[in-house]
Amino acid sequence: MLEEQTIRQPEIKPYTDENIGQSFMNNHYRVDLRTISEKNYNQFITSNTVRDWSQLSWKDVGKPYEVKANSKERINWEKQNNRDMDPHTSWTYFNRAFHEWFVKDVPKEMKESKSRFITSLGTFNPSEIRQALGTVVQLQFWNYAHRIQDGIWDPRGKRALFDGLHLRKPRILFLGAAEGYEAMQLGAMYPGAEIIMVDYDEYCKTTRFADFPDSYPFLGENPRTGTHTVVYKDDLNIEYVVDDIRNLDYGKEFDVVLSVGLLEHFPDDYKHEVADWHRRFLKPGGYAILTTPRNQMRSRLYYKVMADVMNHTYRELMTVEQMGMYMYENGFDILSHGYIKVHNGLICQPR
Ligand SMILES: C[S@@+](CC[C@H](N)C(=O)[O-])C[C@H]1O[C@@H](n2cnc3c(N)ncnc32)[C@H](O)[C@@H]1O
Repeated sequence: MLEEQTIRQPEIKPYTDENIGQSFMNNHYRVDLRTISEKNYNQFITSNTVRDWSQLSWKDVGKPYEVKANSKERINWEKQNNRDMDPHTSWTYFNRAFHEWFVKDVPKEMKESKSRFITSLGTFNPSEIRQALGTVVQLQFWNYAHRIQDGIWDPRGKRALFDGLHLRKPRILFLGAAEGYEAMQLGAMYPGAEIIMVDYDEYCKTTRFADFPDSYPFLGENPRTGTHTVVYKDDLNIEYVVDDIRNLDYGKEFDVVLSVGLLEHFPDDYKHEVADWHRRFLKPGGYAILTTPRNQMRSRLYYKVMADVMNHTYRELMTVEQMGMYMYENGFDILSHGYIKVHNGLICQPR
């Protein structure tokens, strides 16, 4: 007779409303269901440093910092193909490289990488030792940036940024959605949301979004009680479209057009086109919401250490004032602006 086996299914929705107010760290990421009160709101976002955008000039704010360190994959591709890597190809490399880090069992890999480094010392081979040490450093960085600080997803900063918008059952268009995190956080906060995610790298739909953990809890709103509730990916109404943003033929039908880490990948000659993508699909009174990485020392260091993971594309780091200038001079009013852990954020509307 076959022995009976008990197979433990991973819990798909492990957190309930009883966990609201708590934060836990697992081997991949931090769960953060801590709420923000009016009193501690400014701990998560530094808001509205500019009073009057019409008084600001590029001379006042300067230009963004361009990240120059390229990934090895990009350098090798360009040598083999004898030309610059085009943006679409570069995004396919970036998304695969970045996704690999989200699925790592970080404590396990940190332990293994340290023991590989110790073994490498015995080889007296400088390139092997350098490579082993590089992996140790990258894992330490990732552990700090993603698991400990939760700087990449930064749910409390994003919630502070998305808070207080006049939205009822919003239609949300997420441009360059990748794994879709921010639209899910926004949708959780505004019940009844309909989310359309767009990315021209199919891998984002089939892997980055599909593999985004079903068990990750977003802190959202309960429409019946107006209190907080836990919302999961499959509680949300999401359609994922694989296409170039330039091909979209939606009308002005969205309450929110959102992008996260898109504007900074376009040199100045193309910024007006990106601004236009945020205007074209907005209903009158709708919000364009954008975030871009901040120009701060620790971010410069991050993009240096993590160059092989992150740097396949043109990339700038900017201040919130520079970011606001790009949108203001391209016909948007800035309703609110601020910076969170590693990104700047803007809420704007076409003038
Ligand atoms: C830097 S990523 C967004 C950051 C994201 N939060 C992440 O974790 O990777 C930008 C995304 O925009 C997509 N993208 C860039 N240009 C696009 C275009 N013209 N049409 C559609 N998607 C585009 C890329 O494929 C990429 O997945």
